[in-house]
Amino acid sequence: MNILVAGGLGYIGSHTIVELIENGHNVICIDNLFNSSVVAKERIEKITNSKFIFYNIDLIDYNKVDYVFENNKIDVVIMFAGYKAVGESTNKPLEYYYNNIVSMINVLDVMKKHNCFNIIFSSSATVYGIPKKMPITEEDEANNINNITNPYGRSKAMIEKILNDLSLADDRYKIVILRYFNPVGAHQSGLIGEDPRGIPNNLMPYIAQVAVGKRDKVHVFGNNYNTKDGTGVRDYIHVVDLAKGHVLALKCFVKNQNMFIYNLGTGIGYSVLDVIKSYEKASNKRIDFVIEGRRSGDVDCLLCDPEKAKLELGFVANKTLDEMCVDSYRFQLNNPNGYEDDKIVKMVFE
Ligand code: NAD
Ligand code: UFG
Repeated sequence: MNILVAGGLGYIGSHTIVELIENGHNVICIDNLFNSSVVAKERIEKITNSKFIFYNIDLIDYNKVDYVFENNKIDVVIMFAGYKAVGESTNKPLEYYYNNIVSMINVLDVMKKHNCFNIIFSSSATVYGIPKKMPITEEDEANNINNITNPYGRSKAMIEKILNDLSLADDRYKIVILRYFNPVGAHQSGLIGEDPRGIPNNLMPYIAQVAVGKRDKVHVFGNNYNTKDGTGVRDYIHVVDLAKGHVLALKCFVKNQNMFIYNLGTGIGYSVLDVIKSYEKASNKRIDFVIEGRRSGDVDCLLCDPEKAKLELGFVANKTLDEMCVDSYRFQLNNPNGYEDDKIVKMVFE
């Protein structure tokens, strides 16, 4: 299939492009490099030993998106592009709603113009808000704007609603919503991984920077949650397993149904202290930590029920927490300053 990967040079997109190419698909990528680097493209090409078309385009620019569709036959769009920092979204709600929602509407509008109705959308466990029970199934309440704790999450919920309305209005649509739990880790080559700008917001990239000496210690947000050791429990999923989930989701486009929603996670919960311990093992380094107060908006535990994706897509996330930490550490060790080092080396030698 010819697959347009929007936001494809980012963390999850880059791993997904590798899996798509390795499964024989033709990739066309759009990214405005807001939170990514062209180095990721070179690394993907090295891993897969093949090239793909890349457009440095902002999806906010309708005419440029249209240009991509004018010049390429697209069968499916995978929409990764968007802003994703939960805390930042609270301070910059307009930027989040504008970028995430307008980008999505532009893509959908151009798709329709070019008779493309197949889309996979990157959603998040955040659309469940503060869940009433665990593990969370796709049938549980989602997209209740009043139960979602931040503008980022509400932008995802609003997009899910838009997609649902489209699926009801027009039978030609085939829409797959993937609700990711906590993607972590990196490709086993050590060439691509997560490259956060500034201070990492998320746990594993923060631990990774402590492991290589870029930061002193991990700040553990709360040890009085209702969990086995008092620290927050999450459903961590290896990013390569998550990427494979997208390849499996392509099956939906030959099914006689037009809306599909899947949780992508393992169903297994690990606490913050479990992750720190596993990372110490992976890196053979002591990871210092300090207990801080709770981070606002956090919940005790978030776990998915992964059964629906298993039954309908054959999706099982097999990689263990130890593998997630080993792969994350390999990427961090090889790229202590993310993709920036490669860019600097090039500037010096060009
Ligand atoms: P990322 O920031 O690494 O990747 C997103 C990419 O989109 C970046 O490369 C960025 O430059 C690009 N982008 C943003 N706005 C754009 C625009 N207007 N035009 C063109 N490109 C644009 O994020 P990620 O971790 O790879 O996440 C991918 C998707 O999955 C996001 O939609 C995110 O909300 C969702 N998600 C991520 C997580 C997570 O923990 N990483 C969890 C749940 C859901
Ligand atoms: N945590 C710390 N210290 C840190 C960072 C996080 O103790 O420096 C804790 C959090 O309190 C939480 C756990 O580690 O208990 C995981 O936090 P992350 O920030 O890594 O992940 P979240 O579960 O908060 O959120 C992530 C993404 C969201 C997505 C969600 C889906 O950031 O976009 O997973 O479950 F919606």
